[in-house]
Amino acid sequence: MAKILITGGAGFIGSHVIRLFVRKYPDYRIVNLDALTYAGNLENLKDIEDRPNYTFIKGDITDAGLIRQIFTDHRFDGIIHLAAESHVDRSIANPAAFVETNVMGTVHLLNAAKASWGDNFAGKRFYHISTDEVYGSLGETGFFTETTAYDPRSPYSASKASSDHFVRAWYHTYGLPVVLSNCSNNYGSHQFPEKLIPLVINNIKNMAEIPVYGKGENVRDWLWVEDHAHAIDVIYHRGKDGETYNIGGLNEWKNIDLVHLLCQIMDNKLGRAQGTSAKLITFVKDRAGHDLRYAIDASKLSNELNWNPSIQFEEGLEKTVDWYLANEEWLTHVTSGAYKNYYDQQYKQR
Ligand code: NAD
Ligand code: DAU
Repeated sequence: MAKILITGGAGFIGSHVIRLFVRKYPDYRIVNLDALTYAGNLENLKDIEDRPNYTFIKGDITDAGLIRQIFTDHRFDGIIHLAAESHVDRSIANPAAFVETNVMGTVHLLNAAKASWGDNFAGKRFYHISTDEVYGSLGETGFFTETTAYDPRSPYSASKASSDHFVRAWYHTYGLPVVLSNCSNNYGSHQFPEKLIPLVINNIKNMAEIPVYGKGENVRDWLWVEDHAHAIDVIYHRGKDGETYNIGGLNEWKNIDLVHLLCQIMDNKLGRAQGTSAKLITFVKDRAGHDLRYAIDASKLSNELNWNPSIQFEEGLEKTVDWYLANEEWLTHVTSGAYKNYYDQQYKQR
């Protein structure tokens, strides 16, 4: 029976990973450690919270003493580490929080895993979930591979790049059995509406302006979040120690084209005349240091571990819209209170 710590399991991707592991591996004991920041929400896990193989611990990965204690109490076989400050715009406004959680939090987890496992690493695994943003920004052509030099350009990506380096340092220096993956932009249910897709869906629903940064020409490579969770399952079980795997959707979209597609889908779903939502598009001041393009070459993962994305973007986007429209209560809950203050602060000067 394996005991796995999943950090950040109340967030967007983490909740999908927890759901997959709890359902697929009834013999595993899954412990979710999450500080429940603004981005963490136990409502994301309602459907599995009563399963006997699932436990939740509210705790902050920046608290080294608490982390040590949790490792002593639970004696984990594996860690899948997703907890992070994850939003680029917030990192521009408040970089120090990203260093604390993403860098120091990761170092505390590495230390605790090493102390708990001693010199016996048999059957153990420390899996760090990272982002394609560590590789910087692409021009019109080319792809990020696992050997692309790191070139982070935002406080968020600098903090994730730094945490990747620390994870690899524990592998080389102490022999800790680590594995890493760097993934492109995820979309799907339960994503906090500070990120582009749920923010646009929420604004269209409320007939509010759709803020598009700059000219909307920036390109992102979108991946269905459940495909990411599946890739994490494959890499956790079959990835090689010390290796890094890129994960991506081979699915590049200019922001403005993606926003237009969402407008069409929303007009259909809401029974509004075509063109109604597109009138809400408003070009606003660009993000500082806005990376132009991300695109992932995921052929290593496909060739070595036989993982491939499962769903076409148009289908996934429609399912995503359906989820947000069917879960109005979730959306209302997460966009009340602090979200309003964030939104006003973030968009008032644009
Ligand atoms: P998210 O912001 O939705 O969730 C982050 C979770 O971490 C939340 O539940 C939050 O409460 C928790 N958390 C934050 N600080 C914490 C702390 N100090 N201690 C304990 N818990 C804390 O993020 P996400 O989009 O689900 O991203 C998860 C991971 O995947 C992150 O490491 C991110 O860098 C990485 N990633 C995200 C994407 C994406 O498109 N969203 C793509 C590639 C990689
Ligand atoms: O590439 C992986 C990364 O994808 C993850 O590591 C991050 O955690 C995740 O947040 C995401 O980062 P992005 O900055 O690409 O995601 P975001 O949804 O914030 O923005 C997507 C694009 O849309 C980006 O080019 C900025 C633009 N945008 C975003 C917002 C919130 C707008 O034009 N308007 C907006 O209001």
